[in-house]
Amino acid sequence: MLLKKLKSNNKIPFHMPGHKRNTDLLGNELPFDIDITEIEGFDNLHNPKGLLKEVNRELTNLYHSKQSFMLVNGSTCGILSAVSALVKEGDNVLISRNCHKSVYNGIELVKGKIQYLTPSVDEYGIFGKVNPLEVEGILSTQNIKLLIITSPTYEGVISDINKISAIANKYNTLVLVDGAHGAHLFDFYENCKADVVVVSLHKTLPALTQCAAINVYSDKVDLDLLKNKLSVFQTSSPSYVLMSSIDNCIDFINENSNAFTEYKNELDLFYSKCKCLSVLKLLKYDDSGKIVVFCGFSNISGTELSSMLRNEYNIEIEMTSTDYVVAMTSICDTDYNFNALADALLSIDKSLSRKSFDKTSKILIPEKYCEPYEIGDNRVLSNISQSVNKVCCEYVFAYPPGIPILVPGEIISKDVIDLIDYYLSNDVKLYSDFDNMPDKILTKKV
Ligand SMILES: Cc1ncc(COP(=O)(O)O)c(C=O)c1O
Repeated sequence: MLLKKLKSNNKIPFHMPGHKRNTDLLGNELPFDIDITEIEGFDNLHNPKGLLKEVNRELTNLYHSKQSFMLVNGSTCGILSAVSALVKEGDNVLISRNCHKSVYNGIELVKGKIQYLTPSVDEYGIFGKVNPLEVEGILSTQNIKLLIITSPTYEGVISDINKISAIANKYNTLVLVDGAHGAHLFDFYENCKADVVVVSLHKTLPALTQCAAINVYSDKVDLDLLKNKLSVFQTSSPSYVLMSSIDNCIDFINENSNAFTEYKNELDLFYSKCKCLSVLKLLKYDDSGKIVVFCGFSNISGTELSSMLRNEYNIEIEMTSTDYVVAMTSICDTDYNFNALADALLSIDKSLSRKSFDKTSKILIPEKYCEPYEIGDNRVLSNISQSVNKVCCEYVFAYPPGIPILVPGEIISKDVIDLIDYYLSNDVKLYSDFDNMPDKILTKKV
């Protein structure tokens, strides 16, 4: 609907953007013809009354929410807005250590105090579900304003959101679900008991990069405040290309429900074809669309596996870790794609030899010296090897998945340095906010 209207817009554009939809001059490889600004008849994302309000209404239906809003700056801006709307300075926020860095950034911005859940780690070194009993233990003894859970995780682990939310409800704790990787699980959100769920449409649905949605499920969320925060964190020039992509994505889903059945069948076929893998192992978690290929029992690392797939089989993988890779799939994957991946894995598997798996714990929650927002500007650059017992002043993370190994305000222990060395020796790329990795790190000046 939005796209149709954009396509039929033939007004002479004495307005932004500066390309003026002049495809004769600029060519039509990029969508200049539908890239407009908030002109008459095309509504306004920050105060939607017409076309864009309708897209939000369709999102609300799709996600069974009380109110959904489209996002054009990814889940990142949804998480920043939700945290800012739900948390005040000094509030305690309980999060899983494996939360995305946007969660940490949001809490830092509002000067919240971070507390951690310790997610379990399975025999393959992968983060498990959030344990409702652990949540209850913490909420019953401490005053927690907001609980933030990542579900599904990058690897497809889904926590029992409704059970956890019921517990949180008892203690007046709000629940924000970072469902960035679960935009395709609409039915899962029916009767959702969390307060807010943020999803990245662009990750698992046919939508352009940055398209996302924030879904509100409870009356405990101040919608006006949330809208206000969305207008702080979202651009004041939202892209109509992205918004029409969201609109088209919803239409596609509504008109192609069979695509999900076919997708499920393709996945089933893929997993059954890969049953005879002998050294590589497929780990199937709750969302089987995240194909997790574990190579910890083999003589190659995750990095080597993804290089082989790239260089020898022309397959690019979403995420590479030390002992596994994640292939992210969607309804848009063809049977050609699934067959190519299965054939490649089967062929690589034949060339591998077996070894035992040494599960090095990759989850360390270092001792906290202060909150990230308390770090200030008093920083100095240190060599990693000489930073033991110093206070870290920047986030250190592997991307993807963007889960911090070190958070500003944490004390850099020998164990953390060993963990950094372990990642680097396994060719996992580490980043830090101020781009000092892998040799240096910002620490607090004493
Ligand atoms: C768990 C998780 N949450 C949030 C985000 C941010 O999503 P977006 O890229 O849509 O801003 C990511 C991105 O990779 C993620 O993995």
